[in-house]
Amino acid sequence: MDQYIIHGGTTLRGEVEISGAKNAAVAIIPAALLVKGVCRIENIPQISDTDTLLTILVELGARVSYINKNTIEIDCSNARCQDAPFELMRKIRASYYLIGSMLGRFGSAKTTMPGGCNFGVRPIDQHIKGMRALGADVNVEGGFVYADALDGRLHGSRIYLDKVSVGATMNIMIAAVLAEGRTVIENAAREPHIVDLANFLNSMGADVRGAGTDSIRINGVDELHGGSYSIIPDQIEAGTYMVAAAATGGEVLITNIIPKHLEGISAKLRETGTFIEEYEEAILVRGAEKLRRINLKTMPYPGFPTDMQPQFGVLLCQANGTSVITEGIYDNRFKYVNELRKMGAEIQVDGRVCVIDGGRRLSGAPVHACDLRAGAAMVIAGMIADGTTVIDDVHYIERGYERFVEKLNALGADITVRYDDDDPERIGLYSVS
Ligand code: EPZ
Repeated sequence: MDQYIIHGGTTLRGEVEISGAKNAAVAIIPAALLVKGVCRIENIPQISDTDTLLTILVELGARVSYINKNTIEIDCSNARCQDAPFELMRKIRASYYLIGSMLGRFGSAKTTMPGGCNFGVRPIDQHIKGMRALGADVNVEGGFVYADALDGRLHGSRIYLDKVSVGATMNIMIAAVLAEGRTVIENAAREPHIVDLANFLNSMGADVRGAGTDSIRINGVDELHGGSYSIIPDQIEAGTYMVAAAATGGEVLITNIIPKHLEGISAKLRETGTFIEEYEEAILVRGAEKLRRINLKTMPYPGFPTDMQPQFGVLLCQANGTSVITEGIYDNRFKYVNELRKMGAEIQVDGRVCVIDGGRRLSGAPVHACDLRAGAAMVIAGMIADGTTVIDDVHYIERGYERFVEKLNALGADITVRYDDDDPERIGLYSVS
């Protein structure tokens, strides 16, 4: 399997440009299936999750062209309702968006249950509740999700989400834009990527209002036309570099960002004593002489994002005193703690609460990337540790960070990639004409 070899004692300095938002892109690409025309999408991050989804669309009959490495044109005019590569769907969480887009476009969908990072139970009951409310018959059997619009076309409905769910909010939005009549999603998630999806759909002729609030209204239209759209910058990629700068005691200017999307991350970093200065589309992060301990709880947006929790877990190993992290979204998102203990960290975990006895130097060790954000956190740990750290299973990291090693080495890190060409997890970029 592919590995990163990291020589520690790094201090990151310089400037890094943030790529397009992964969690927007992995919803917008499947949503392009709804459009009979050419969708030109800019600022697509070049990561394996977007590759996987583009490959699936091509198997459904879409034409995908790379204008450059971050701009593609997707034409789903001739897409057909047929089986798509199930082994690819099983690899990623975002394959669930194909339920909404295939139902919306074709009135029928067959997908696998989604894959993705494993940190506890991640059901899709709210997605299914939404599709059924829109008039689909949905069954899960043998690891597959079968969905059919009972009248051939979905119809609008009012749907109250029992749990604030990013995926269910976006999946129902995708399914509802071509439904007959009006849909209202109550208790909707409010993340920036939800607004980005709504803006993409509206630029293709949809009528979605209220995205970014907890009540989203969708007036169904008969057809979507082609158009152009540019994806917002990735708030979690930006937050990861902010924490890396703070943890290594460096000074990094992070560009191509929307500071408003980073408010929760900036606020908690300031609490640790880290210096943060915000500009129009950039943020400067300077490490503190001595990091202060803090308490942290992850919540739905605009609360502190769960996808930044592992990175802060590493940062707080450096802070003097005892910090407490409470994971408010998932049952088990502390698997990375075992890996940090191999590096000398003193951390106790009890269910959704993690207590970090900070102020100890970490020492390099062989560790695993347990999932996407845990993997990024282990890279930060390797950069601050004494000695050398070898991280296995780095394919997780490459699912969500574009040119991660290249960008970090340009800031002064010392990371070497050891590729294992026999790694079954490795899929090359989908090069289509
Ligand atoms: C999305 O996952 C993101 N993934 C996750 O990012 C992110 O952690 C999460 O939202 C929360 O922000 C993508 O967008 C591809 P949820 P999703 O539905 O949609 C429960 C990353 O690192 N739930 O908001 O799966 C669920 O178990 C990844 O980029 C139900 O109970 O998250 C969780 O406890 C990791 N039933 C909570 O709700 C459902 O039907 C929030 O999940 C759906 C979710």
